[in-house]
Amino acid sequence: MSALISPPAPGGSGPGPVVGRLLRSRLAAALATPHGVDRYLERFNPMWAAHEVRARVVSVHRETSGDAATGSAPVATLTLQPTSTWRGHRAGQHVLVGVELPGTAKRHTRAFSISSAASAPGERFTLTIRAHDEGQVSSYLVREARPGQLLHLSQAQGAFTLIESPATPTISRLLFITGGSGITPAMSMVRTLLRDGYDGHAGRKVTFLHFARGPEDQIFADELAAIAEADNGVDVHLRYGDQRFSEFELRRLVPDYRDTDTWLCGPAGLVELVKDAYAGPESSGGALSPRLRMEFFKPAVARAAQPADGEELTGEVTFARSGASAPASGTSLLQQAEELGLKPDFGCRMGICFSCTRTKTAGAVRNVLTGEESSLPDEEIRICVTAAAGDCHIDL
Ligand SMILES: Cc1cc2nc3c(=O)[nH]c(=O)nc-3n(C[C@H](O)[C@H](O)[C@H](O)COP(=O)(O)OP(=O)(O)OC[C@H]3O[C@@H](n4cnc5c(N)ncnc54)[C@H](O)[C@@H]3O)c2cc1C
Ligand code: FES
Repeated sequence: MSALISPPAPGGSGPGPVVGRLLRSRLAAALATPHGVDRYLERFNPMWAAHEVRARVVSVHRETSGDAATGSAPVATLTLQPTSTWRGHRAGQHVLVGVELPGTAKRHTRAFSISSAASAPGERFTLTIRAHDEGQVSSYLVREARPGQLLHLSQAQGAFTLIESPATPTISRLLFITGGSGITPAMSMVRTLLRDGYDGHAGRKVTFLHFARGPEDQIFADELAAIAEADNGVDVHLRYGDQRFSEFELRRLVPDYRDTDTWLCGPAGLVELVKDAYAGPESSGGALSPRLRMEFFKPAVARAAQPADGEELTGEVTFARSGASAPASGTSLLQQAEELGLKPDFGCRMGICFSCTRTKTAGAVRNVLTGEESSLPDEEIRICVTAAAGDCHIDL
């Protein structure tokens, strides 16, 4: 393989484009079987890859230091240099980050929104992470990540994006409502708009309404203050402590908010209040305004998988490898496994990262997000969003 490798592309992030194409070819795949091209490249230089995406931590910037007395947790921004395989991201998207924690032999995967402006292929970007109490991956990345360290990444993903751009101008207003670390995808969108020449004087306005515990807990405080002061058409409204979300205030800031393109990301309490404000009258079924887009960092309480009206959920869940079993409870199979003391891999706990995928060898299951049932044998399922719908056997 070494004969195929060229010097890294500018920026030192990977082989040049021609060699890159060669390395992604079928011939290279056949030559590298059974380990794959990336296993060989990694040995020469961990920043060389043909398919996988990895990133080197360039710097770690402490945003807030947290305060045990008030229960606030520290937040850090990691600047990452991805391998040349990185295809870039649209503002608002997230990435799956794989980390090998010290003392554990396995890789842990978590999702993080990208906080920097939209990136081009191979370009640097940032993640801004709050260290959750007892949170394995977030605490490690905030407290222990160091420049030079390598992380495993997915390509950027997610549909919570800025669909309008300066290339497709609109006269409409944009509204961002965020809470806590939920500010990260909105920050990426606002940074993209400002970087790409967003013109707030062409009848377009951005309203950014953000809720935090207090000023000392405010992520991106200096930058938000600078944006608020500049004459750029972006209105920033920061609310702290007891200043909770109210529909009354939203109506004052953006009178036609239900008809305004809105991006919402924050803790469950904030999301529920905002959803109530965007719900239509009961006479029309209370449907949410289609202008409201939402991103969740934590699973909304998963709907238990219950059978049709009047029927009782029966059946036994068997985790075949461990020999553990329990009556089907309607909660996710991940939760049922954990309640039995098992420790299956998981990442997002909401069906987006596939870390928890297992084989259901037999039986009936229901997707707790869609309600869809399936009883196919030897089926790959994500156990975080799947519950038993009767007897079922899981290869776990
Ligand atoms: C699409 C998406 C984007 C995200 N973007 C960001 C981001 O930009 N910045 C960021 O800091 N986080 C973000 N998250 C959350 C992140 O993926 C992790 O859930 C979080 O960092 C906790 O992981 P952990 O391994 O530290 O905690 P775990 O070890 O998984 O959990 C430990 C404890 O922390 C609690 N916990 C886990 N997740 C959360 C959570 N999200 N909120 C509150 N408590 C939690 C659990 O209840 C548990 O008690 C995002 C999540 C998703 C799905
Ligand atoms: S834990 Fe991410 S899909 Fe299940």
